[in-house]
Amino acid sequence: MSLDLRSDNTLPAHPAILEAVSRANAGTQTSYGSDEFSLRVRARCAEIFERDVDVFPVLTGSAGNALAIGAMTPPWGAVFCHADAHIHRDELGAAEMFTGGAKLMPIPGALGKLEPDATRAVIEEVRDSRRMATLSTLSITQTTEAGTVCSLEEIHALTALAKSNNLRIHMDGARFANAVVSLGSSPADLTWRAGVDILVFGATKNGGFGAELLVVFRKEVAETLSILWHRSGHRPSKARFLAAQLDAYLHDDLWLRNARHANEMAAYLAQGLRAAGLNTLLPVDANIVFVRLPPHTARHLQSMGFQFYDWPIFGPDVYRMVTGFNTPQEGIDSLLGALRA
Ligand SMILES: Cc1ncc(COP(=O)(O)O)c(C=O)c1O
Repeated sequence: MSLDLRSDNTLPAHPAILEAVSRANAGTQTSYGSDEFSLRVRARCAEIFERDVDVFPVLTGSAGNALAIGAMTPPWGAVFCHADAHIHRDELGAAEMFTGGAKLMPIPGALGKLEPDATRAVIEEVRDSRRMATLSTLSITQTTEAGTVCSLEEIHALTALAKSNNLRIHMDGARFANAVVSLGSSPADLTWRAGVDILVFGATKNGGFGAELLVVFRKEVAETLSILWHRSGHRPSKARFLAAQLDAYLHDDLWLRNARHANEMAAYLAQGLRAAGLNTLLPVDANIVFVRLPPHTARHLQSMGFQFYDWPIFGPDVYRMVTGFNTPQEGIDSLLGALRA
């Protein structure tokens, strides 16, 4: 039995999404985002977020993050983020480029989360320096890169701090669906009601084959973003094909059903690993498990067809296992069986 736990990016697209794109190929549609699919995505988002929103589909999460931050941050601004944030570690300075040179201020914090006291200290350092950058934007990742989920209280503590310093708030929601399922909170409570200005709502990792949605809760930011989206070449003429993915993703709660399965499989995997006496390093709130394994055990499992990555930034002999919308429980049973054997 083989099982791919390398990433939620190695998964195929959900069949319903692929079929929706195929159906969207029929006939003509108005171009540049005024097609029926794009309009439906906006209307569906208004229901999901319980208010009118502006939406901008893009192909990648990196583009979404960079555009979102670019629309809120001047070239001389500071963007406060976690030290392990994808925008800091994995996007080759895209946020810095799209802002025209803003300064990312990475802040360490346990469990992949920004801690209010440490964040406040860095905000004050920038403010008091008067020459480093101006206070501009706070970036929160939900679900975090460490696979943990920030509670509503944790989000509120950070957004209150941001608001008291007049910062705009970006949420990297590449795995937002997993966080919504994990917390059982409403998407509105987790975003604009807590003060979030832009959410990058991920679909690719959770069943799409390349679509993320910028959901904007502040009109003047949407106005700037609409220019940046177009000017940077992220506004596709045949936008229906991006939007059709998102339309199917949001239809009939596919986004929640997919994330629920992924989260359940991660919990099942983590429980089995712990029962086998292994150390899962972090709380498994969503669909990512970090486990410490003897290297020879890891190599043996990998040689049997169980795929997962080394994760050295979390220490020696640490491996990351990511579940997804189509992870089979029997695959996890096989992995756990192989471990016991
Ligand atoms: C937390 C987080 N944000 C953003 C991204 C960016 O996604 P993309 O690879 O589509 O640019 C990823 C991808 O792994 C991610 O894990």
